[in-house]
Amino acid sequence: MSQQTVSPQTILMQASSNGKGTTGTIGQPITYEKIPTQIFADSKEASYAVAKEISDLIRQKQKEGKPCVLGLATGSSPKTVYAILVRMHREEGLSFKNVISFNLDEYYQMEPDSIYSYHRFMKEQLFDHVDIPKENYFLPDGTVPAPLLRDYCTSYENKINAVGGLDFQLLGIGGNGHIGFNEPGSLINSHTRLITLDHSTRAAASMEFGGLHNVPRKAITLGVAPILNARRVVLLAWGERKASVIKSAVEGPVTELNPASYLQAHADVTFVVDESAASELTRIKTPWAVDSVVWDNKMIKKAVTHLSQTLKKPILKLIDKDYNDNGMSDLLAQYGACYEININVFNQLQHTITGWPGGKPNADDTHRPERAQPAKKRVLIFSPHPDDDIISMGGTFQRLVDQGHEVHVAYQTSGNIAVADDEALRFIDFVVDFNNGFDINSPDANKLFLDAKEFLRHTKNSEIDSPEVRKVKGLIRRGEAKATCRFVGIPTSQAHFLDMPFYETGTVQKKPIGEEDIKIIENLIEEIKPHQIYAAGDFADPHGTHKVCWDAIEAALQRSKHKNFMKDCWVWLYRGAWAEWDIYEIEMAVPMSPDQVLKKRQGIFKHQSQKDGVVFQGEDSREFWQRAEERNAGTAQLYDSLGLAEYEAMEAFVRWKF
Ligand code: F6R
Repeated sequence: MSQQTVSPQTILMQASSNGKGTTGTIGQPITYEKIPTQIFADSKEASYAVAKEISDLIRQKQKEGKPCVLGLATGSSPKTVYAILVRMHREEGLSFKNVISFNLDEYYQMEPDSIYSYHRFMKEQLFDHVDIPKENYFLPDGTVPAPLLRDYCTSYENKINAVGGLDFQLLGIGGNGHIGFNEPGSLINSHTRLITLDHSTRAAASMEFGGLHNVPRKAITLGVAPILNARRVVLLAWGERKASVIKSAVEGPVTELNPASYLQAHADVTFVVDESAASELTRIKTPWAVDSVVWDNKMIKKAVTHLSQTLKKPILKLIDKDYNDNGMSDLLAQYGACYEININVFNQLQHTITGWPGGKPNADDTHRPERAQPAKKRVLIFSPHPDDDIISMGGTFQRLVDQGHEVHVAYQTSGNIAVADDEALRFIDFVVDFNNGFDINSPDANKLFLDAKEFLRHTKNSEIDSPEVRKVKGLIRRGEAKATCRFVGIPTSQAHFLDMPFYETGTVQKKPIGEEDIKIIENLIEEIKPHQIYAAGDFADPHGTHKVCWDAIEAALQRSKHKNFMKDCWVWLYRGAWAEWDIYEIEMAVPMSPDQVLKKRQGIFKHQSQKDGVVFQGEDSREFWQRAEERNAGTAQLYDSLGLAEYEAMEAFVRWKF
C-alpha cells in the first residue's frame, strides 16, 4: 500500500473544512474563525469604534462630493452607535446632509407612528437629532396593502440600486441567526419580501410589546442578497444571549439555518462583539487550544474544569494523557504530573462551598469564602426588580436571616411595567370593595377605580399607562416584595423601596442613570454601613435594567470606598434570572437542601403578578421559580460531576473588588 503524502496546504484545507481550525505559518495561532471578528471589552467601546468608522465614511464621501448610502438596523444593538453619532453631530459638527439611508425592516402591519414601529425607533434614536434631510431616509412601509407588497418590495430594492448601492450595512443578529428579518430558512439569493417571523423572534420582541400576543406575526425585510451586495458590512452583537449564535456564524458551516453564516462569503465584513458575545468562540472559551497561554490560577481553573466537563470525568480522575490529548501538555510540563494540578483545582472548588454565607462564627476562616468576624453582620441585598432577591439568592437570603445577620433588602425599581392591566384593576376593585365593606367613605378611591377602568378599556397597546395606573402596579409589586420579606423573616422596616427615577418612564425604554439615582444608593449604603453587599452582576445586556442598576451601585461604591466603614464591606455578585456564573469564576457556592429549595419556591410564589403568563415572559417559557430551580440544581450537578459533594441545589456568587 502506498504511503499517502499530505501537503501542508491539504492539512490547511482539511482543517478548515472539518471545522477543526486552521493554521497559517508555524508558530501562528490556529484560527477557527471564518469571519473577521473584533472583540471589545464592552459594547460602549465597540460602539465608539463603529460610530467612528461610519462618521469617517460620511466625511470621506463629503470630501468626494458624493452621497453616503447607509443600511441601518434597529433593535437594542445599534442604539449606542446612534447615540454616539448624534453626539458627534452636536459636538463635532458631523453633518448627515449627504447621507441616504435604508432601513432593513419594519413590522407588518405597522403604522409608522406606533411606539412599536421601527420608523418611530429610527426617528427617536437618530433622524430627529441630526440634519439628515427627511427625503433621504427610507424604511419599509408597514402599511402597504397586501396585493401591492410584491411590487413595493421590488421598488424598495430598486431605490437602493438607483443611488449606487449600499456603501455600509449595519446589522444586528437574532438569537436564531437572523439578519434583518431573514429568518432561518432564508436563501442566500433571497430578495426584499414579506416574511413570517419565527416564534423565537416574536418571543424576543415580546418584552417591548408587553406580551407575545401583541407582537406582529409578519415583517417586511431586505433580503439576504441585497445585504451581501453592500460594499462593507458590520454586524454588532452584545451579551451572552448572542454567544452561541455568534460562534456558529463565525466558526460553523455556511447554512440557511443560521443566515448570518452567509456573511462568511462577504469580502469586507467585520463582526464587532463584546466579551460576553465572544465567550463561546474557541479562542475565548478554550484559548489553550488556539495559542500558548499564561497559566495563571484562573486559566488553570478554567482549563481543568473544562477538561473535566468535556471528558465527563471527575477532576481527581484526570490523567496525564487527558491533558496531553486536549492541548494542555504545556501546563502538564510546568507541573510535572497532573496529580498536583488536579488536587489544586479540586481544593479551590471545595473552598468555595459554604453553608455560612455571612461567615462561620468562631471557625478558622482561612479557606472559607467569607470572614468569621464580625459574627453578626449587617447585610444589604440589592434587588433590581422586586423579585430578584428571592429568585436569584433566596436560599442565601434565608440562611443569612436564620444565622442571625441583620439583613436589609433594597428594591431598586418599582417593576411597575411588568404588571398586567387586569391585575391592576383587580387590586383597585379590592380597595373600593374594602372601603364599601367597612363604610370607609373614599370617593377618591372610587374615582381612581373608574378612571383607571376607563383608561384601561380605551388604552391601545401603543399607549403608556396613566401615572395612577403605574402607581397601582408599582404598589402591587411592593406588596409582593413585602410578603417575601415577612416570609423569609425580616421586618418590613428592613425592606427599602428605592423607586429609582431612571426606571419610571412607563415604557421598556429607560432613561440613563442620573445623579439622583446614584445618590439614592449612596445614601442607603451610608445609612446601613453594611459588612456585606449583594448585587445583581448582570453586565451583559447593555440596556437591561439589571445593568443600569449595577452601574448605579458601582458609581455609589466608587464614591464611598474611602469611607471608614467601607474597609469592612465585601461585595458579592449574583446573576439575574437567566444565567449562572461559569464554574471557574464562582467564589462562593451556597448549597440548599431539598426542603430549602421548596421554601425558596414558596417565597417566589409571593410574587403572584409574575406568575402564570407574565407580561415579560421573553424567550423562556418557564416560570421564574422553574428557571431558578433548574439553574440552582444545575450548579449543584456541576459541582457533583466535577467530583465534589452532591447537593440538591446551589446558589453562586462572585466577589467584586474595588
Ligand atoms: C433590526 C433587525 C434585527 C435585529 C436583531 C437583533 O432592524 O433587523 O435583525 O438586528 O433581531 O436585535 P437586538 O439588537 O435587539 O438584539
